[in-house]
Amino acid sequence: MLDVKKIQNVDLDYLTHVIKSGKYDEEIFKTADEIRRKYVGEEVHLRAIIEFSNICTQHCLYCGLRADNKNLQRYRMSPEEIIERARLIAKLGIKTIVLQSGEDPYYTTEIISHLITEIKKLDVAITLSIGERGFEEYRIWKELGADRYLMRHETAAPELYAKLHPNDSFENRKAHLYELKRLGYETGAGFMVGLPGQTAYDLALDLAFLKELDADMIGIGPFIPNPDTPLKDAKGGDLQTTLRMIALARIVVPTANIPATTALGSINPFGRQYGLKYGANVIMPNLTPNPYRPNYSLYPGKICLFERDTACVECTKQMIRSVGLVVGEGYGYRKKTEMSE
Ligand code: 5AD
Ligand code: FES
Repeated sequence: MLDVKKIQNVDLDYLTHVIKSGKYDEEIFKTADEIRRKYVGEEVHLRAIIEFSNICTQHCLYCGLRADNKNLQRYRMSPEEIIERARLIAKLGIKTIVLQSGEDPYYTTEIISHLITEIKKLDVAITLSIGERGFEEYRIWKELGADRYLMRHETAAPELYAKLHPNDSFENRKAHLYELKRLGYETGAGFMVGLPGQTAYDLALDLAFLKELDADMIGIGPFIPNPDTPLKDAKGGDLQTTLRMIALARIVVPTANIPATTALGSINPFGRQYGLKYGANVIMPNLTPNPYRPNYSLYPGKICLFERDTACVECTKQMIRSVGLVVGEGYGYRKKTEMSE
């Protein structure tokens, strides 16, 4: 029998055992689905993502956007193009816009400020996902109306973090996430499953960190080796372990907003549907305009490429209905209070 209390108390030995075993999955999935229903309900929130620049100064070993990758056609959308996209998204009735990019200093404090000011006029929630920036910038953008900030912690195992991120440390990443929290952002963390050298204990640490931070949003996806990176020969994460981690995250942080991620949908045609059945309550349709979209290639096999620009909206709504859930109509802020049964 699964000891749900031990999971919620993030007992590291027990979590490691449960993650490694794989024998508890049926119970984990069932429990996660019940907790999802009880704490966040039947609504699945849509977050439209605009990947506005694939230029990056960082060197993360797993990522196709790393500065050292010369096999990628780089692009930057102009502020006008980004705002135009945001207008289209608002017209489609989606209430959250995620602005995501590599760590690209071309977009100065002022440019990001301008984007926030203009996009907030559209009556949408704004999520920034642009990597590590200055604490003062985080403050300014929050004051201008940015609502949320996504910055996965990638792995909470400090040695593994250091190996994967030249010039960065888990301590530093943690400090940024705590600052975002302190400033009042809904703060998103999360990690990859199946990183080279990652152990079940490391994954238990990831869950413990999500709880410690009280992450408002939790993005979990399989690591998918990219042929244009130093990790090209690594194995990558599998569907079952990734679903197990998503479900455990739901049990550990019951009210968090948890997406069924694009990477999950990229390793299995029904990956996101399983995600929604086993604890996830968010889906992120890709609204990056063509011709840019295929160039935001973090990993190979990324879905939603070469589609009609807006096709993912109908596709994700259909997906939500197909698993018996309901398309959320509001902004989809984190639920503060426990729902009644
Ligand atoms: N496989 C899976 N996910 C990846 N990411 C970056 N590179 C890869 C990869 N090769 C994830 C990271 C990052 C998010 C935007 O994409 O977790 O935070
Ligand atoms: Fe993008 Fe289905 S969600 S095509």
